[in-house]
Amino acid sequence: MTKEIRIAPSILSADFSKMGEEVKSLGRYGADLIHCDVMDGVFVNNITFGLKMVEDIRPHTALPLDCHLMIVHPEKYVERFVKAGADIVTVHFEACRDNLAEVLKKIRGAGAKCGAVVNPDTPAEAIEGVLPLCDMVLVMSVFPGFGGQKFMPEVLEKVRFFRDFAAEHGLSYDVEIDGGISPETAGAAIKAGANVLVAGSAVFKSADRAAAIAALRK
Ligand code: DX5
Ligand code: ZN
Repeated sequence: MTKEIRIAPSILSADFSKMGEEVKSLGRYGADLIHCDVMDGVFVNNITFGLKMVEDIRPHTALPLDCHLMIVHPEKYVERFVKAGADIVTVHFEACRDNLAEVLKKIRGAGAKCGAVVNPDTPAEAIEGVLPLCDMVLVMSVFPGFGGQKFMPEVLEKVRFFRDFAAEHGLSYDVEIDGGISPETAGAAIKAGANVLVAGSAVFKSADRAAAIAALRK
């Protein structure tokens, strides 16, 4: 099944002092989702924002909020992120190796879409067992923590695996890719089977954000 390509700008690269305006303008520029990078300073070596940011930007956009949780013990917080306004919550395999299925079900139970994330050095097979539970699979194409890193083409093999697995098993999850996505790397990601592209610097560092979003979709 061919899925429509959707662009999810990451507000990690936005101006935090005017986030409401930033999020509102992304809608006008043609974004499909708003990617919210939540970092706790423990799971990754950086701290961004949490529940309050999601809650506060919620009224500023009708676009789905795609919350990528880079935190330890995500099971403690997923329901509150859904309550705060998240439409999709993704959690790292590396943060819940023993209870990933349970956490995914918890997100669903709270009323949002759920997804599993794999770091560049985690094999696709690590989450094979939970794929039937996923609305989305997120393949990290950089080690999480910071925007503006270099795309790792070796993860495309996993993108292909997840896309083929879906076809073989009649599953319809989205395959999202995150890290170093630019007009130069987007094509290869789409070709491998990704249909949701996260982009931080490629959108926010561009003088024409609408054109930057359009360029990723091609
Ligand atoms: C990395 C984050 C990404 C990041 C992407 O830890 O999960 O969403 O913001 O930024 P770029 O597109 O600049 O690599
Ligand atoms: Zn992210």
